[in-house]
Amino acid sequence: MNLSSFWTYFDEAKLTEEILINSQFSTISEWSLEKLQRVSINYRWLVKSHSNHLALMVSRLPESQFKSLISEILNDEQGNGRYERSHLYLWDNFLRSIEVPDISNNLIELDPMLPLINNSSIDFVIGLEGVGVECICAVYLEVFEHFLKQHPYVIENKNKIDWEFFDIHVRGEDIHHKQMIREAVEQLISEKVINPDLLLIGYNKAKQIWRDTWNLWLTSSEQEILKVS
Ligand SMILES: [Fe+2]
Repeated sequence: MNLSSFWTYFDEAKLTEEILINSQFSTISEWSLEKLQRVSINYRWLVKSHSNHLALMVSRLPESQFKSLISEILNDEQGNGRYERSHLYLWDNFLRSIEVPDISNNLIELDPMLPLINNSSIDFVIGLEGVGVECICAVYLEVFEHFLKQHPYVIENKNKIDWEFFDIHVRGEDIHHKQMIREAVEQLISEKVINPDLLLIGYNKAKQIWRDTWNLWLTSSEQEILKVS
């Protein structure tokens, strides 16, 4: 497979379409505020664990432009030395702005990524966490934000919702990161440091985990609400 047809495989327009068709996001405007809050708390788990996943990957990467780049992205995740600029803090600002009563009340502890990042070949891990999670995350978030803006609570409270997390990930620095990731991965492939076939398998695994995780968040939120009420 040559490099240009290789990247066609990662076409984001296709991925967005796939998420639009297969996800349950289109019903967001009908969700109760409680369900919206629960799903957003569950998403917090991802924001929190993403830095740890990146750090684990960095510890396994060969010395390369890709390693420097992922380290820089990890630094951004952690707020470049300022905790109040860390992406978890920004997500919590969003949670507070939609009146989540207890932001640390996250019941999901399952982490399907850890054993994969620790034990798989590095080619697979770069596909999974580097090209996969890092890039797929923003596409899901974009679809989530699109439907979120149609929720009655969000429409009514438009001016008090903190959108900074979305601004960064959907419209801001993440887009630049994606392009840089592609260039750094291309370098690893052309220098034959990694096998593109294994990279693709890792990417597909990330897609599957993302789909399953969002479905789990959506269904478990329903169950948690039912349990409490
Ligand atoms: Fe982030």
